[in-house]
Amino acid sequence: MNLQPQFSLKKLNTFGIEAKARNYAKINDVKALKQIIAQHRNEKLFILGGGSNMLLTQDIDALVLHIDLKGIEITKESEHHVWVKSQAGENWHDFVIWTLNHNFGGLENLSLIPGNVGTTPIQNIGAYGVEIKDSMDSCSTLHIETLTTKTFSNEECKFSYRESIFKNELKNQYIITEVTFKLTKNNHQLNTSYGAIESELLKHNIKNPTLQDVSNAVIAIRESKLPNPKILGNSGSFFKNPIISLDDFIEIQTQFPEMPYYKLENNLIKVPAGWLIEKAGFKGKKFGDAGIHKDQALVLVNYGNATGAEIWALAQEIQKTIFNRFNINIEAEVNVI
Ligand code: EPU
Repeated sequence: MNLQPQFSLKKLNTFGIEAKARNYAKINDVKALKQIIAQHRNEKLFILGGGSNMLLTQDIDALVLHIDLKGIEITKESEHHVWVKSQAGENWHDFVIWTLNHNFGGLENLSLIPGNVGTTPIQNIGAYGVEIKDSMDSCSTLHIETLTTKTFSNEECKFSYRESIFKNELKNQYIITEVTFKLTKNNHQLNTSYGAIESELLKHNIKNPTLQDVSNAVIAIRESKLPNPKILGNSGSFFKNPIISLDDFIEIQTQFPEMPYYKLENNLIKVPAGWLIEKAGFKGKKFGDAGIHKDQALVLVNYGNATGAEIWALAQEIQKTIFNRFNINIEAEVNVI
């Protein structure tokens, strides 16, 4: 296998940050993946998927394995459901479009999310009232240490809001090679309750939406407030929405009654980090080439030549300000490397 030394990762991360991999290899099949790991046992490895959820603050002093496994197949069908398996290196949005072209339901609300299929279970991607955990059946993995394969069921992934076992107990131990989704063939359960979807459908006078209509509505909403990483470097939401106790919430709410919130179980409240950041005056601000997007304060952007360190410094400044102002810790959602 050809290794490429001092390889630029600028085009392989959606923030568009310049950083070099000490060594780089693009992986097209699992056999090659096993081989290269076996041959480089003493080297540090770094697994790269779609590069859409990371901020590179330095060069990568490791062998970067770029997972580019391709292929989509139907593995099983029942009267109402179909099981579709995608290789990890398929582009997520292209995969969603593939399911919609087959009229398979379940992923329409997750249209236009950047990244590859293989990384979606790691942070349980979610948008517009739907998460990957709602339709992921299982995922196949390669255990880096033993080079054995293991399939994780949905339950075994221990999904929660932007979390899974792969970000926690099993961090950096497994490479996801395939993901299987259980989708609907008929009686689709559309989820349009997320405010903006309904109003977007109404705008087009659509009363009985199809899967494609819901996808189109989600695409229109995303395009209206989220920057396209091909045009303006970014990594989607930079922070997670913080989850706070009811007591803390009540204290803040007396001061800011207009603050939006979502009630969760166990007296916990999720508050939108985007609102907090906007309220703290950061929305639309630019510091050199690092900035906060003008339409969605949760998204940090690279106007061209920002370094990862500059973006991270800005993120830390935002975290400090939010803590001082609201007594709330906002955690990064992206992996800071
Ligand atoms: N808000 C503001 N100012 C802002 C941004 C948001 O006041 O600059 C307020 C909005 O008015 C709204 C609330 O915050 O009341 C929530 O905003 P929005 O619906 O835009 O969603 P979000 O909570 O900011 C989350 C996900 C997004 C996902 C959207 C839609 C996280 C960290 N982010 O954002 O996911 O697209 O909901 O479901 O949970 C991503 O993870 O990269 C991502 C884009």
